[in-house]
Amino acid sequence: VVTRRSDYAPPAWQVPQVALDVALDPLATRVRARLEVVRSGAHDEPLRLDGAGQVPLAVRVDGIAVDDWRIVGGQLVLALPGEAHVIETEVEIAPDRNTQLMGLYASGGILCTQCEAEGFRRITWFPDRPDVLSTYRVRMTADKARFPVLLANGDPVAAGDNADGTHWAEWHDPYPKPSYLFALVAGNLAVNRGTFTTRSGRVVDLGIWVRAADLARTGHALHALQLAMAWDERVYGREYDLDVFNIVAVDDFNFGAMENKGLNIFNSRYILADPDTATDWDYDAIAAVVAHEYFHNWSGNRITCRDWFQLSLKEGFTVYRDQGFSADQGSAAVKRIEDVRGLRAAQFPEDAGPLAHPVRPESYIEIGNFYTATIYNKGAELIRMMATILGPERFRAATDLYFDRFDGTAATCEDFVACMEEAGGVDLTRFRLWYSQAGTPRVSATLDHQPGSGRATLHLAQKVPDTPGQTHKQPQVLPLRLRLFGAETGRPLGDERLVILSDTAASITFETVTERPVVSLNRGFSAPVVIDSDRSAADLAFLARHDDDPFARYEAMQQLMLDTLVAATVEGEADHAAVIAAVADTLDDPTLDRAFVAEAVLLPAESFIGDQLSTVDPEAIFQAREALRRDLGRALDARWRAACDPALRRPFAYTPEDKGIRRLRNVALGYVAASGAADAPALAYAQFEAADNMTDRHGALTTLVGGRSAQRDAALDVFYHRYAGNALVLDKWFQTQALSPLEDTPALVAELAQHPDFTLANPNRARALIGAFGANQRAFHADGGDGYRWLADQLLALDALNPQTAAKLLPPLGRWRRFDPVRADRMRAELARIVATPDISKDLFEQASKSLEG
Ligand code: ARG
Ligand code: ZN
Repeated sequence: VVTRRSDYAPPAWQVPQVALDVALDPLATRVRARLEVVRSGAHDEPLRLDGAGQVPLAVRVDGIAVDDWRIVGGQLVLALPGEAHVIETEVEIAPDRNTQLMGLYASGGILCTQCEAEGFRRITWFPDRPDVLSTYRVRMTADKARFPVLLANGDPVAAGDNADGTHWAEWHDPYPKPSYLFALVAGNLAVNRGTFTTRSGRVVDLGIWVRAADLARTGHALHALQLAMAWDERVYGREYDLDVFNIVAVDDFNFGAMENKGLNIFNSRYILADPDTATDWDYDAIAAVVAHEYFHNWSGNRITCRDWFQLSLKEGFTVYRDQGFSADQGSAAVKRIEDVRGLRAAQFPEDAGPLAHPVRPESYIEIGNFYTATIYNKGAELIRMMATILGPERFRAATDLYFDRFDGTAATCEDFVACMEEAGGVDLTRFRLWYSQAGTPRVSATLDHQPGSGRATLHLAQKVPDTPGQTHKQPQVLPLRLRLFGAETGRPLGDERLVILSDTAASITFETVTERPVVSLNRGFSAPVVIDSDRSAADLAFLARHDDDPFARYEAMQQLMLDTLVAATVEGEADHAAVIAAVADTLDDPTLDRAFVAEAVLLPAESFIGDQLSTVDPEAIFQAREALRRDLGRALDARWRAACDPALRRPFAYTPEDKGIRRLRNVALGYVAASGAADAPALAYAQFEAADNMTDRHGALTTLVGGRSAQRDAALDVFYHRYAGNALVLDKWFQTQALSPLEDTPALVAELAQHPDFTLANPNRARALIGAFGANQRAFHADGGDGYRWLADQLLALDALNPQTAAKLLPPLGRWRRFDPVRADRMRAELARIVATPDISKDLFEQASKSLEG
């Protein structure tokens, strides 16, 4: 069944009040729901309640048991005579048997919920759509010994003990919310408490709830939460609105985390950290996700989405907000580089493949498949472009207007853009194409200089490529920040300019061009597009040295590397001298911070190189990249050794400066190994052993796993035993091996799937092995294509347990159009086999069938 955006109709009934009485038991939980329903508008439609996986045991209308209800298309349909009624239902569910991890489920003895997008219907009968807003009163009863802590949305109201060893608690959430924001948790949990005082003086009790053994690893998350609360007041004027804010961490979770009102529930990998078990990447991700979920309190909860086609209204904006928060914690340039790298790794391929969809999709089979890089990350880029067009003051005025006007409602992307226009004083009519047209625009740029004229002209042209179901697209509105530099003096020729390209082509004239100019384009990645420019290797090397925009400097270096690697892949060899010289200069520049240097000297990923080619040759790409890594390693050996010199080690501190030193250390260690130096394994093993933090230890392990040595096997063994009891670190053990560039990785991965610690029941573990293998271009596409069959087998097995997580791991199989006919046929055969398997979920069916056609 396909759901279409054009079919939207407002709900026939509203449910202003909900009372739930939940008698919790892992195998037989009783849910009694009392809904106050009100007819909305003049119509005689029956009440329709969604339900999945449960049978109504009793239905009462205004206190009287009825049996004239029907189940139609999964909905409980009840004809009601009046304008307002009280509906009571009762169901029984078994959280222990819920392997989908949607609705009420058990994770390591903790009972918890995940309702977004359509999980609430697995708990009780309800109009499970985001435009039905209700206030909730929730009463929970549970065995006191097994579930001493009972949490729900909002504020605690009352609690007490029963004579039979159970206890109860009641919570009330005064803010009307859609059912997808409902949450409850019951378990044996310890808490790390803190407070935050809002600028208007409300003292908020904060709690991070985890298993007692994990309590020592919650400090970073709590601190990040306090920073995020202060940041949202300062930057967006948004204050928290309840007296308590709780976060619970669970080990089994389908995504990163969930913004349930007043009770966020997290995948434990985005909460737990200490220096011994978490990398700097983990620390950063924890702060970003804690902030993201907190920011949803305004962009998502106070203002929610009218329907799921508007998902980017809350996700794109909230990602933009969390990116701003992270940028303010350290180096904004490095944060931007990381975000753009992520966009190119995940969103650009999605936009270029069979699953391409607009930021505001037109239809879906399963909404769970639309929590994508396009909705989240491209959606954030759309907000960023509007902020660029408006400028900071007007953008803030526009977000103020949006929060003010739509507070307490379920809004649309259109509502948001209209606020940008109104408060920003701009016309965004054509900008709206970004919401409806899929595909990454391509911009070609050529700079024409007439020597002696003092003038230069930049010719720009754009094209939005066809995507499945969309052809002949209109040009989009592209804000491009650009600046010219003088090739002789290295100095800027005039100020930076913001050019808004909104036609198919345009020419921009620059005056006072007193020497040969070099153009710095799309600075800060001001538009999420692909730039095709005719800049020579020499000009790119020049910008890598002289550009005053750090992102553009990084970008010039990446383009130089990419051009070199593409040439090497196609021609079998290339001149490495320009790249080596540019990397040497970057390493030698004392004004650059080490984190920036580490990003700048890293070669583009194999998959990104593949994206530049008409047919991906995974082995040729791998060999070309290794050859450049080897030459860089050899030519700059002394510099790499200096950067990973043990003398630079100092006791662990999570500061931007120390993070930069560690990042460059691991990049440098990788280059020493790539050079083929005989002592590289010993060097890496020494770092592995001496490390006082996971970043150094894991970096050394990654380098060792990329080669063959006695130290490799020893390190894997030591690492495994040292962290045997820690699921999050064991995930790294699986993942690092699945990402290995060695030839025998496919066989090793198949073997690891039989390891006693491997399980499909835990999404993190499944992703660590299956997801990493799918992302390993060389291994996944290794000759023979056995990897395709293996992946399809895993997806089918996982689908029977957990459809959402299975469907998320399918996209690597869908890239068949990008490969040679032999590989393409084998990939399609596996997709066809999945589609033909009886009883697969609609989640997996949608991904596989669209991948086959697209
Ligand atoms: N709203 C959550 C977040 O962005 C993610 C929920 C994911 N749900 C899903 N069905 N994929 O933080
Ligand atoms: Zn979100």
